[in-house]
Amino acid sequence: MIPAINNLSKFCVRHLSTGLIRMADSSIAQLRVSYRDKSDVLLEDNLESKNPHQLFSIWFKKASERDDVRQPNAACLATATKSGIPSARFVLLKAFDESGFTFFTNSESRKGRELEENPVAALTIYWDALDRSVRIEGAVEKISEAESTEYFDTRPKSSQIGAHVSRQSTVIASREVLSELNAKLENEYMDKPVPRPLYWNGYKIIPRTIEFWQGQSDRLHDRIVFERAEYSREKPNVYHLGENGWVFYRLSP
Ligand SMILES: Cc1cc2nc3c(=O)[nH]c(=O)nc-3n(C[C@H](O)[C@H](O)[C@H](O)COP(=O)(O)O)c2cc1C
Repeated sequence: MIPAINNLSKFCVRHLSTGLIRMADSSIAQLRVSYRDKSDVLLEDNLESKNPHQLFSIWFKKASERDDVRQPNAACLATATKSGIPSARFVLLKAFDESGFTFFTNSESRKGRELEENPVAALTIYWDALDRSVRIEGAVEKISEAESTEYFDTRPKSSQIGAHVSRQSTVIASREVLSELNAKLENEYMDKPVPRPLYWNGYKIIPRTIEFWQGQSDRLHDRIVFERAEYSREKPNVYHLGENGWVFYRLSP
């Protein structure tokens, strides 16, 4: 059983004596923010779209228009080994449409290796300023070489060189290893275009579910999950027909 906050405080002081735990108890555990007004709720009938791709696009546009959301496309990507050991890190969402959600990375990185042996992922975005989060889960496919090259060619030259410099997720002796190679490649490519390294690729998550979460001050947060109809188990009376092959339902917060 989880002790109440006051009891927890005594519990921590009595049993857990590291500074870190005390700090967590006296500050982090007490953090509370207000979310939305009770009247501003997400209802099945007033969703701005019943196609989750369109709804994502509407939410993303809203986040992008705000000055207090600096990187609306920053998303936490979770992958796992075939045996189920998970890992998560942030990536930048670079494209989305009805076919899926695309990010770019080094295929030899930890996430790249995990996606190779277990091509499924979960991607979670949190827009603090909007009290909103979106969770996307599904199978992952590499996009075509031509599409990856097309995007790579639009990147600033420094980022293109960076992709050559970094053998992502490998151990290196020091920062100098990177800066020396970077300087060498800057020189080498001074007057010529930088080719895309073959290990640098785009990946697309083909969503099976997309959840829209909106925080409420009374903690009765809204959670609307869209699921591809072909995967959806029958949930009579609680699932609703969405558009374009999706159904949706509400989850308890
Ligand atoms: C906001 C943010 C955005 C990032 N975007 C990317 C990205 O688009 N692609 C990428 O490979 N790494 C990106 N990174 C770095 C990754 O989080 C991570 O350090 C790196 O990809 C290695 O992860 P891995 O060892 O689990 O494969 C980003 C980090 C942050 C904090």
